[in-house]
Amino acid sequence: MCRHQVGADAPSSTVVAAAAREVLPTNVKPLHYDLTLEPDFGSFTYAGRVVIELHVVDDTTSISLNTNELTIHATTVASGGHTVSAAPTVSHDDDEQVTTVRFDQTIAAGSQATLTMAFSGTLNDNMAGFYRSSFQDAHGNTTYMATTQMEPTDARRAFPCFDEPALKAAFTVTLVADDKMTCLSNMDVASEKTVDSQVGEGSRKAVTFNRTPLMSTYLLAFVVGELNYIETNSFRVPVRVYAPKDREIEHGRFSLELAAKTLDFYEKTFDSPFPLPKMDMIAIPDFSAGAMENWGLVTYRVVDVLIDEKVSGAATKQRVAETVQHELAHQWFGNLVTMDFWDGLWLNEGFATWMSWYSCNVFYPDWKVWEGYVTDNLASALSLDSLRSSHPIEVPVKRADEINQIFDAISYSKGSCVLRMISKHLGEETFMEGVRRYLKKHAYGNTQTGDLWAALSDASGQNVEKVMDIWTKKVGFPVVSVTEDPRASSIHLKQNRFLRTADVKPEEDKTLFPVYLGLRTKEGVNEELALTTREADYKLKNLDFFKLNADHSGLYRTSYTPERLRKLGVAAKDGLLTVEDRAGMIADAGSLAASGYQKTSGILSLLDSFKSEPAFVVWQEITARISALRSAWMFEDKAVRDALKKFQLDLTKDKAHELGWKFSEDDGHIEQQFKAMMFASAGVVDDETIVKSAFDMFNKFKAGDSSAIHPNLRTSVYAIVLSNGGKEEYDAVLHQALNAKTSDERNNALRALGRAKDPELIQRTLALSLSGDVKAQDIYLPIAALRTHPEGIQALWQWVKDNWAELEKRLPPSLTMLSSVVSITTSSFTHREQMQNIQEFFANKSTKGFDKSLAQSCDAISAKTAWIERDSEDVKAWLKEHKYL
Ligand code: BES
Ligand code: ZN
Repeated sequence: MCRHQVGADAPSSTVVAAAAREVLPTNVKPLHYDLTLEPDFGSFTYAGRVVIELHVVDDTTSISLNTNELTIHATTVASGGHTVSAAPTVSHDDDEQVTTVRFDQTIAAGSQATLTMAFSGTLNDNMAGFYRSSFQDAHGNTTYMATTQMEPTDARRAFPCFDEPALKAAFTVTLVADDKMTCLSNMDVASEKTVDSQVGEGSRKAVTFNRTPLMSTYLLAFVVGELNYIETNSFRVPVRVYAPKDREIEHGRFSLELAAKTLDFYEKTFDSPFPLPKMDMIAIPDFSAGAMENWGLVTYRVVDVLIDEKVSGAATKQRVAETVQHELAHQWFGNLVTMDFWDGLWLNEGFATWMSWYSCNVFYPDWKVWEGYVTDNLASALSLDSLRSSHPIEVPVKRADEINQIFDAISYSKGSCVLRMISKHLGEETFMEGVRRYLKKHAYGNTQTGDLWAALSDASGQNVEKVMDIWTKKVGFPVVSVTEDPRASSIHLKQNRFLRTADVKPEEDKTLFPVYLGLRTKEGVNEELALTTREADYKLKNLDFFKLNADHSGLYRTSYTPERLRKLGVAAKDGLLTVEDRAGMIADAGSLAASGYQKTSGILSLLDSFKSEPAFVVWQEITARISALRSAWMFEDKAVRDALKKFQLDLTKDKAHELGWKFSEDDGHIEQQFKAMMFASAGVVDDETIVKSAFDMFNKFKAGDSSAIHPNLRTSVYAIVLSNGGKEEYDAVLHQALNAKTSDERNNALRALGRAKDPELIQRTLALSLSGDVKAQDIYLPIAALRTHPEGIQALWQWVKDNWAELEKRLPPSLTMLSSVVSITTSSFTHREQMQNIQEFFANKSTKGFDKSLAQSCDAISAKTAWIERDSEDVKAWLKEHKYL
């Protein structure tokens, strides 16, 4: 495999050829780790000891492995029962995060060696490595727990290890703690005994877990804390949900039952039994991502696993289901079979994303999740990938700060779109057969993208690699322009690279993507046709009705003539198009208008013609498009902005009133979200009845009637009263944000605060983000809604500039949080000089860890600048013609 090739001729250095991977020397390979950790909650440190069994590949006088912010106290090297060195020379390269142990005697190739290290580390509060998290006990005292987040490269922050996904080994873990603490790791408990404490007085329990199967370091997990759990035995092995003692453990019931059903479904679907003796899932109060798929011990942010269905809405429930099913899919795709290095990350994340949709659709067919795929993953993929600063799905990455940045819409969403495309083309059954073969062949091993294509080719008898290679190796996607020749009854198609900034250079337009046309006509869908050249003609029976990209399973935009677009609008009304087709068609038209391929007035008319649209997902796209336009016009003349607001009101109010905002037991999952969304879309543009109703609900709620606001409406009611109200409303929402019982309720309140436009309230919102009242994991919540108004956007950026040192300190660049904050605080600008201001600010600073998101923000701003310059008159004229201006 590739690792060995790149490592082979770099014996004494961890640096390999340019643009290649930065990996450890390959003279030794870890086989087994015996690891003991003992946290000390007084000093927030821990003591550790690791004994690593190694296979010696080449004659060896030095061993290099990863460590980061660890203190090594003692090191010994042994081989064949003899001590090779009791005090080897130990040196550390901070930048490479590598510790090298050198000794005089040579250990011969082919033998085994044992490296033993005693070390200590900090239970840090950066949510990485072995870290501390906290919650309040029943008496309001802060209680600490210790937990881990290793992916991608923080196992080395917890203990010395060969921290690369391809260096799989077995692990025997022991955790030492007070009796009141529950100790958890990937495996079940093998034994428990009493030992002398290394960090304090007296004795403590030492819990030893069974040996793991071969696995990668980034999937290890250890938890020590005061916990409760619930358990189900409805799956072959016990499944538990754990939570800190302050939480209502019954809120884990939904995830627990779903996990048991999902594991059963996955092991049957993959024809591969879940190989571990138990499955634990745990809510962690401080957690940087949403959830982490540690083998046998999945860790979650509280809101992504605990849910109180009495106070949380339909959307929250769906997010929890998606998260659980995503992490459990990783137990096979990622944990059993692992990418050989981080440039293959998409294999993990793209597949888990696709699989969570697939399984959600099996368990909750009435949620119709695939319809929503078009406005969710497909939309995010095409959005990010339309920027020059995007990257190919398979991208070379070396260091932590680079690796972290590819946990993005390309790896997740574009990755899953590519799988959706090929699964539709091969048929889901054949696709799954390929997946089964892939898992069987590579179980406990590592793979590259080609291995997946090989298994799919094997199962289908088609050359999958030939079509798919381009999609994972090349950046971007095409726009397919359609012109018509009615006399010949044919259509002419041409593909070009699509960029949102509409300034594609010839050298950026060299890739010819294999495009499945999915040609829909009255006869049905032709799944065979593909455009593999730059241009081609296709003969149709007639040109009355056709549409490309049926169900939008292809990764491209389609540009029709304005006349054809109008005809498609009519076809939509006549029931000739699916929900995916209608949503996707609006998305394409909107995106093409925003990037200059079409006129914006065209999309305004198209949206206007969809007022009677019945489907939720299509409305999601309609409202997304009008929001995108209003965001781009954020800093334009107030008269025009008000006219756009009126247009949004006119567009959404009838539907909002038709659906209403009362909820009953009979409302389906989609209907609930539909009502909530329309209430919000018309409410935030001042529909009088909705605003009044929002205030009524809010005032009752404020007076103590906790059920006055339906969970589905909570965020929008807060948003409406905050944009129209003052300090009184602000204080009431803030009270919720600080005191609500569940994390979901608290987050809904936090998320709305930024809606308040009063300068003093804006400052309070900003101050709150960095105060002790908001956990670092939630820093993005209060600031998010500031992006809905120009005052907020400006104040937000000023705040970043004023508090940069503090932000860098609280959100280390090696994590993903700083990158999100940069993106949130810069991407809402729309003018050239605003972008210059951003670039000037960062010109003399390190952009390590967020250079990608910064470049993406700047590209997004440029695209908006160009859009306004191009179509500002066109938009005005349309608004005038339709009496909004
Ligand atoms: N492997 C990731 C968690 C992760 C993210 C680790 C970033 C390191 C850096 C996990 O499987 C994941 O994808 N979690 C998602 C949730 C999911 C439902 C998309 C997340 O954290 O948002
Ligand atoms: Zn994932």
